[in-house]
Amino acid sequence: MISLTVDTLTAHDFVTVEVLLKSKSAAPIKASLVVFRFADQVYAYVNHCMHMHRPLNCQQDAVFDSARRWLRCSMHGFLFEPTNGVCISPVCEGQALQKINVVEEAGIIVFKEKQLQVLAVHLPAEKPLKVTP
Ligand code: FES
Repeated sequence: MISLTVDTLTAHDFVTVEVLLKSKSAAPIKASLVVFRFADQVYAYVNHCMHMHRPLNCQQDAVFDSARRWLRCSMHGFLFEPTNGVCISPVCEGQALQKINVVEEAGIIVFKEKQLQVLAVHLPAEKPLKVTP
């Protein structure tokens, strides 16, 4: 259980979540997720732009365009559909961010990936929230 709530996502454009991704065949790896609400649903993706392998918020503390219609990588401005993570910009068109299953349950954001362990939650330009194990 983590302490990331629906209210937190409503109050912030996005949050990033540091996680440990485990697998049966390889050593666990640390990853960063970007988590946000869009059109009344919660979405989570591995925060990794396939263009030059950077986090979407690597240059600015933002992951959306100014209209909040598209996810936008702050490095070169490539755009992604928020509901499926598919890139619509040339070079990476058709490739997708890695989606992580996540749902809202009784006001709490719950990751539905068995092999995922939350390490920390970061608000934009703020210190991390403490995570309850
Ligand atoms: S690194 Fe993301 S658009 Fe270039």
